[in-house]
Amino acid sequence: MNPLRTRAPGKVNLCLFLGPTRPDGRHELVSVVESVSLADDVSLGDAEPGAEGDEVVCPGVEGVNLAALALASFREAVGWDAPPRRVTVAKRVPVAAGMGGGSADAAATLRLAAHAVGAEDETVLATLAAGLGSDVPAALEPGVCVVTGAGERVRRLGALEPHALLILPSGQRLATPAVFAEADRLGLPSCARALAVLHGDVEASFAREAAISAELVRNDLQAAALSLCPEIDGALDAARAAGADHALVSGSGPTVAGIYLGADAHERAAVAAGDLRAAFPGACAVVPVDPAFGAVETVEVPA
Ligand code: C5P
Repeated sequence: MNPLRTRAPGKVNLCLFLGPTRPDGRHELVSVVESVSLADDVSLGDAEPGAEGDEVVCPGVEGVNLAALALASFREAVGWDAPPRRVTVAKRVPVAAGMGGGSADAAATLRLAAHAVGAEDETVLATLAAGLGSDVPAALEPGVCVVTGAGERVRRLGALEPHALLILPSGQRLATPAVFAEADRLGLPSCARALAVLHGDVEASFAREAAISAELVRNDLQAAALSLCPEIDGALDAARAAGADHALVSGSGPTVAGIYLGADAHERAAVAAGDLRAAFPGACAVVPVDPAFGAVETVEVPA
């Protein structure tokens, strides 16, 4: 096959409100998830001759790769029995950092496989994505969305008010289950009724007014991430001191995002990233991206 490639953008949770634990062990939540321009590159091509099965090559990431599970689940769901394929991931999104990089790679793999077989049935992809992990459904199509349930219900939004983000990666890694467990230990989740009220507020501000309002830029997992990784506090302070209008932990952390509002947002975030790079290696300024950012392209191979 001609190799296919796409981009797998990382995400920032502009807000994340935590609710009760469901019978499946995961928490109800309400979150606004935004894809950003810091992205992995993911490609799908033929495996090496003699390969016995599909392969995922992802330098820097150990263990079972969610992209491999995505390809296996896609093959099974649509009965795709083509010869072994290779997924190659060039990582740029920090790993185990709350930016959903592994989930974005899995979602990108689903897009690539669906394109390869011409089977881009959104319902099938959404079902597969939900089975792979809470962050995968939102990552199927880059953009901004309100996410509910445990992550499986996704409502796409139009672009929000002009803004850009400063990303401050951490040298530490946090395991998502540990952060949710710590949130429970600290009593952070709201009751179902309070979560429903917050959902209404999110719909009114982010969805109807496209506004990033100060009261709603809150991540209920932040205190849990801070409890497990106190260094995060320094990054939050640094982002605020560098002029961010809001600063918060993304997802389960430990990455910190500074949100800059206004027409000059990207310029201000870029200056801050430059100033902070010595203290926070990998600091960068990013912008929101839309579905076109995740388009699948055919890689031209010289004859
Ligand atoms: O869905 P995913 O595999 O990414 O979730 C990993 C773990 O994170 C879950 O097993 C659970 O401990 C926690 N989690 C949660 N509630 C969510 C999402 C994740 O408790 N909505």
